[in-house]
Amino acid sequence: MRALVITGAGVSAESGIPTFRGKDGYWRNLDPAKLATPEAFANNPKLVWEWYRERRERIRSAQPNPAHQAIVKLAAHANEFLLVTQNVDDLHLRAESEGRRLSRNQIVQIHGDIFVTRCSHCERREELCDAETASSARTLPECPECGALMRPGVVWFGEQLDPGETSLVEDFLTSGDCNLVIVAGTTALFGYIIDWALRGRGQTGQLIEVNPEETSLSQFAAKSFREPAGIALPRLIDELLSKVSA
Ligand code: OAD
Repeated sequence: MRALVITGAGVSAESGIPTFRGKDGYWRNLDPAKLATPEAFANNPKLVWEWYRERRERIRSAQPNPAHQAIVKLAAHANEFLLVTQNVDDLHLRAESEGRRLSRNQIVQIHGDIFVTRCSHCERREELCDAETASSARTLPECPECGALMRPGVVWFGEQLDPGETSLVEDFLTSGDCNLVIVAGTTALFGYIIDWALRGRGQTGQLIEVNPEETSLSQFAAKSFREPAGIALPRLIDELLSKVSA
């Protein structure tokens, strides 16, 4: 089996991480233009850092849910597998199934990693350590190489995707069609998400959507499960794997 899984914020919702556009989602109460753009960072880096620090705190205390675990199970049983996630949290990487975790080369975090900080000017990147204290959060970190402000290692509105990450997706897509493409927990607003899902499926693969709500991808899906990912994905993946092994 060659499988591509694409996820969004809905997959982490059952771990207590807010989505962006859903009920209680970040963008229902907060203005993305003030928090998730290069201009917002230039205007008020302290506010942006504070918002990301709060999100990191929330993610650190969250646990992977059955949706994350089911995806690890699929990865463990597929011959070839890639997870493309728009999530900047680390819950996919922390999830376990049958004592296994995803390896780094099985996941592309296409919108970056909230636990990475990078320089707003040069190429310097650093992992944020676990021990982020309230006092360290009050000071704005500066690049040890060029002195410019460090910024969260995520993709903001108006920015290009990291070409290194997109090429990992392209390499996977060009090396063969997938029997199975699962798209879970995303409004699929970005053209590249729909493009990758459709190209991944190719002529003969099956495209399955898991989302309580209809999305712009639903019209292309062979099946849509209108349920929370933590319910639908474990059942769906067990069913698919039992067919493969039968
Ligand atoms: P959204 O908040 O746009 O969408 C979340 C989706 O998850 C919605 O379609 C919900 O119906 C669905 N959902 C909610 N609970 C669910 C559950 N328990 N199980 C399954 N699905 C559920 O989040 P994304 O599509 O991930 O980008 O948003 C994409 C990007 O827009 C984010 O990466 C972020 C955001 O602005 C940037 O910040 C660049």
